[in-house]
Parts: sequence; C-alpha cells; structure tokens
Amino acid sequence: MAAAAIDEWWQTGVVYQVYPRSFADTNGDGMGDLAGIVDHLDHLGGSPDSLGVDAVWLSPFYPSPDHDFGYDVADYVGVDPKYGTLADFERLVEGCHRRGLKVVIDLVLNHSSSQHSWFQASRASRSGDHADWYIWRDSPGRSILGGRRAPNNWRSFFGGSAWTWDDAREQFYLHTFLPEQPDLNWRHPAVREALLGVVRTWLDRGVDGFRLDVFNTFFKDAALRSNPWRLGGRGAWSWQRHVYDRDQPELRGLLAELRAIVDERPGRMTVGELFDGRLAEAAPLIAPRHLVFDWSLITLPWSAAAFKGAVLARDAAFGPERWPANVLSNHDQPRHASRLAPAGVDAAAEAEGDARAKVAATLLLTMRGTPFLYYGEEIALRNLSIPNAEAADPPARRASFLSPWWNRDQARGPMPWTGAPGAGFSSGRPWLPLPPDAARRNVSAQAADPASVLSAYRGLLRLRRATPALLGGDQALVDQADADVLGYIRRTDADAAFVVLNFASRPATVSLPAPGAGRGWRVAWSTAGDGRSESVSDSIVLGPLEALVATA
Ligand code: GLC
Ligand code: CA
Repeated sequence: MAAAAIDEWWQTGVVYQVYPRSFADTNGDGMGDLAGIVDHLDHLGGSPDSLGVDAVWLSPFYPSPDHDFGYDVADYVGVDPKYGTLADFERLVEGCHRRGLKVVIDLVLNHSSSQHSWFQASRASRSGDHADWYIWRDSPGRSILGGRRAPNNWRSFFGGSAWTWDDAREQFYLHTFLPEQPDLNWRHPAVREALLGVVRTWLDRGVDGFRLDVFNTFFKDAALRSNPWRLGGRGAWSWQRHVYDRDQPELRGLLAELRAIVDERPGRMTVGELFDGRLAEAAPLIAPRHLVFDWSLITLPWSAAAFKGAVLARDAAFGPERWPANVLSNHDQPRHASRLAPAGVDAAAEAEGDARAKVAATLLLTMRGTPFLYYGEEIALRNLSIPNAEAADPPARRASFLSPWWNRDQARGPMPWTGAPGAGFSSGRPWLPLPPDAARRNVSAQAADPASVLSAYRGLLRLRRATPALLGGDQALVDQADADVLGYIRRTDADAAFVVLNFASRPATVSLPAPGAGRGWRVAWSTAGDGRSESVSDSIVLGPLEALVATA
C-alpha cells in the first residue's frame, strides 16, 4: 500500500508543550497563568526570531484542587481562577492563531477530581441521576484481619489499592490514580454524552486538537475481573498483568465516535497518551489525525545503539503507514538534558551535556514523525533537585517500597526567561524553586548566543520547514562502521536528507549513502556551526558530538 501524502500540520508540524503553572506568572502569586503564556507567544512563533513551532499543547488549566496539579479536573469547561479566565483563554487562542500557531488542550477524561459536582452527586446517592457515573462496588466481605475486602486486586498507579471505601455511600469506588481522582464510568451513556459534549465545547471555542490523558484506560473489563499475577518488576503495580484494567476492545468504538466529532471541523487532531503500554499496544490505536505517545524515546540512555534499537523497533511495529509521535521529555519524566548528560557537575560536564542536547534535538527534529517539545528543553534546562521529602508531586509523597516513584517536580520548574531576579518568571515566590543556574541559562541569554542550544533548535526548525524530506519523507537507517554513530536518510520523490549523529566525544568517520541519481549532498546544517565546507561526497569526519544534516 502506498503511503498517503504527508502534508497535514499534525504530521509536519512541531508541537510545544506548556505546563501553565511553570511558564510565566503575571500577577506575582508564583504560579504561571494564561496571561503569562500570551505574553510569551512570540517566543514560540510568528516572528523571525521565534523558535518556530507550529502548535502549543497546554497541560490542564481547568478548575482543580491540585491533588495532581490539574490532572484532577473539577470542571471540564472552566478555567481555574489561578490561571485566569475564559476571556484569557480566548485571548490565548486568538494570539496563537494570529501567529499561525495551533492550540492543543489536554483532556483528562479517564477520571475527574473527587471535587467535581458529578462525583459529589454520585457519592451522595445510590439512586440519583449520577449514581453510576463512577465505578462503585460493594465489598465482597471482610478479610481475616477484619478490614473490608476490595472488589478485586487492582492497584492504583500512584500506590496502594485502586479502591477506596466511601463512608457516605458505603461502597468502594475505583481510582486508577489518586483517591482524589475517581475513574469515570465510560460505559454509562450519560457519561459518554457529557464527556463528548466537553469535546464539542472546546472545539466551539476554537481549539485545534486534544491530548487525551491515559486514553487506553477509559474502559475496564465489564466484570471487573482481577488481573493475573506476575513475577518480578519494581513495585506492586508491576506484579500484575494489566489485562482487565486497561486496553479493552470498547475503546475502538469510542475513538471512532470521538474522531467523527473532531473531524466535523477540518484540520483538527488528537494525540492519545498511552498509559503504561508498549509499541504493540500503541500501533493499533494510531489512526488518521490521531497520534499515540508510545514512549519509544523517553527513557533511552545516551547511546547510539539504544536509539537505533528504538527506531528499528518502532519501524517494525508501525510500518510505513502509521505516523509516530516523538517525545524526549514531558511533565512526567526527568528532563532529557539531565537524563542524557554525562556524569559530573563541572563546567566541562555542563558543556558536554549541552552538546548532547543539540545532538538529541537534531534527532527529535529530523526523524520521521511529529516532534513534541517540552518547555525549557530548547535551552537544555536540567532537572531541579528537590528532595522527595519536600516534593509537591503527590505520588512522590506517597512513595514507598511497594510503590516506588520518581519526583516529577524535577521536570516542572519555572521557565527562566531572563537573568534578572525572578528569572522573568515571577515577581513573587515561585511555586517551585528557580533553576540554580537561571542567571546564566535563560531564554534571553541563549537568544543572543549563536552557539546556544536555543539557536540550535531555531536553526533545526528552520531547516525542517525548508526541507520536504524532513517533514514527510520516508526513513531508513544507514549502517555505519562506527558503533557510536547513528545515521538515517529521509526521502521524498523530490529531495533527500541524510542525518548523522556522533554520540562519541571524539571524532568519527561517517559514510554517506548515495544521494540519488543526478544529485549531490550539501551540508545543510551542523551543530559545529558554519565552519564546514558545503559539498561532501562519500565520506566525512564528524567532530566530537557533532550532528550534521546533508540535503540533496
Ligand atoms: C497522565 C499525566 C500525568 C497524570 C496522570 C493522571 O499520565 O501525564 O501527569 O498524573 O495522567 O491523570
Ligand atoms: Ca500567576
């Protein structure tokens, strides 16, 4: 089957994730807000100095008691006053669209906040209108120790049982995450209608797409059977095979219905966050205008072999038809500039870490698929160091031997815009500490430095826009004799791009593939700057940690 033309924005574009709480604060309360995002849109797009992304994805800004910092939604169609008003949101959409930026919002439809009026009503009565909007079950009896037994063996991803007893209703309710995040009952027609109504509301408000939080866990086994046990793994979550608490066949029909609603307006997209799954589960869920985060790249170590393995595994699972989503960092994982950095904290290690970040950026912005950038990665922001005891992230505070957890605060720090006190983020006390190196590592310093990571991102994004093969071309690895080198070619009928990355801190010799009849390779971009001569033939020596793109 011939691949369809790759020319829609959700395929060729680059999406930039904003964590609203940490982007820019305009009222001095130490938390970012929608007005702060509006103030910084020029950083993202619309002017020659912008980064040059195509879309903004906003993590949740809905009213929330913040047990999971907005991923516990108390009103799906409102704006939390700490982030602003609906009018601010409208200004944000207008400001984005004026700059040619699309707006993607985060929908958290597996669970609501326990403060949502739906859950309050559901908890209050076993017979009212909302009685079955959540997943309630009786206890099957008492254990030998006298405690109430839970309806099955399911675990919460954030630690402990997935069931919490509710004294008001005298039943257990299900929560895949925190007890403050009860799972909605997608099998109930009224729930389905209400949540699809939320999708319509935001489409009416002008959004261009949705990121669907943990979308493969919307449906659970109808009979709520216990998961089979398995041996091994870290923490109680991994001691089960999750066959009944996610990935149910009913999801397909729902996605089709949701897609039909989104498709009523041309040019809209969705991207589903695969929850705790692998390539094999991701592949069948990918559809036209629906991407899936499969996590191929987000935990890889600094190794050409590891990245090569990930590319091959994904090609095998997806084939040439399914369009990937490429992610190195997000609000749940350690920042990749830290993950991929060498050991050490001195200036040399920092410089090497920045060089690696540029190589990683080259990969992210040139490999087949839609790149998703996470705010701050364009200046190679590192993890904040926050002891677990001081964590704001709730699962980190609940962490135990049975439920090991990493502290997600480390990737959620305030964005440093300038070297001034407060880093241009806030005039008040930021909700998480500023990065300790904010006086040096900030947007305005890097904007002025042609050798900075930010300048590399801008250059790569410019190259991408100008090179059809990088946007929509097919992709094949080009074998290299040096095991620290990763090379691949992207090709359309009209042009080709050869990308080669040196993962080693020493020079490496690279062999170039044939450019195609009647064509010659020219160096279009290199992390080493403009010093290179333009034309190259069948072999080239890369400098330490150099990434290079040749086009033909
Ligand atoms: C997703 C979000 C994460 C959140 C969880 C529960 O994994 O990315 O931040 O805690 O869902 O909503
Ligand atoms: Ca604020």
